[in-house]
Amino acid sequence: MDLERILFTQGFGSRRQCRALVADGRVSIAGSLCTDAAIDIASDALASFEFQVDGATWRYREKAYLVLNKPPGYECSRDPQHHLSIFHLLPLPLTERGVQCVGRLDQDTTGLLLLSDDGAFVHAFTSPKRKVAKMYLATTRHPLDDAQLCALRNGVLLHGESQPIAAVSAKQRDERELELSVLEGKYHQVKRMVAAAGNRVEKLHRERIGGFGLPDDLAEGQWRWLDDADLTMLRQS
Ligand code: URA
Repeated sequence: MDLERILFTQGFGSRRQCRALVADGRVSIAGSLCTDAAIDIASDALASFEFQVDGATWRYREKAYLVLNKPPGYECSRDPQHHLSIFHLLPLPLTERGVQCVGRLDQDTTGLLLLSDDGAFVHAFTSPKRKVAKMYLATTRHPLDDAQLCALRNGVLLHGESQPIAAVSAKQRDERELELSVLEGKYHQVKRMVAAAGNRVEKLHRERIGGFGLPDDLAEGQWRWLDDADLTMLRQS
């Protein structure tokens, strides 16, 4: 694959813009300036191919898979209505190459958010047919009680739904801290379930999707690439 096409696939703009990036001396390979956008990288070298744009190092990735520790006050939309967009937390090439959220979190929800430009991956984790457990930590307004936990485990009927929805698990961690796992990804699902059980969510944080937990070392607002081990863990979910 030639350098122009590599830059194009990695989100550095149109083919013409990528050619211009190289011609303008903004691209290096292994630390050496490269001014030939037609230079060819053999397909067996692509997987580990690194290049620099304006001094920042990138590795070629056929598909992008990311984890973000979502802060409060950000919408999972490219066109936010009232808050900032989580896409402002990512480098431009990632949004340019079309990464999208793997299921949305509300603007005030924090924690584990996956993003990818692999449509099959996004579909696999958001399709109602493929039920992957999502684990949340909810801080509630009122102290939790057994009746609420039982209702969440046995199923609560949400407005507009024909069948009750049950949590995979509902455990009390503290007086007002609830660990709740759900399979579906319905609109405001956790908040609506907790309300239907007779309490109210004041704070919501997603800790886990399937077998993959929010990395401890990922500060709020930070993102990182998912590595092969992360993807294997997720795909086994
Ligand atoms: N359930 C909610 O109510 N909000 C979220 O952001 C995620 C799950």
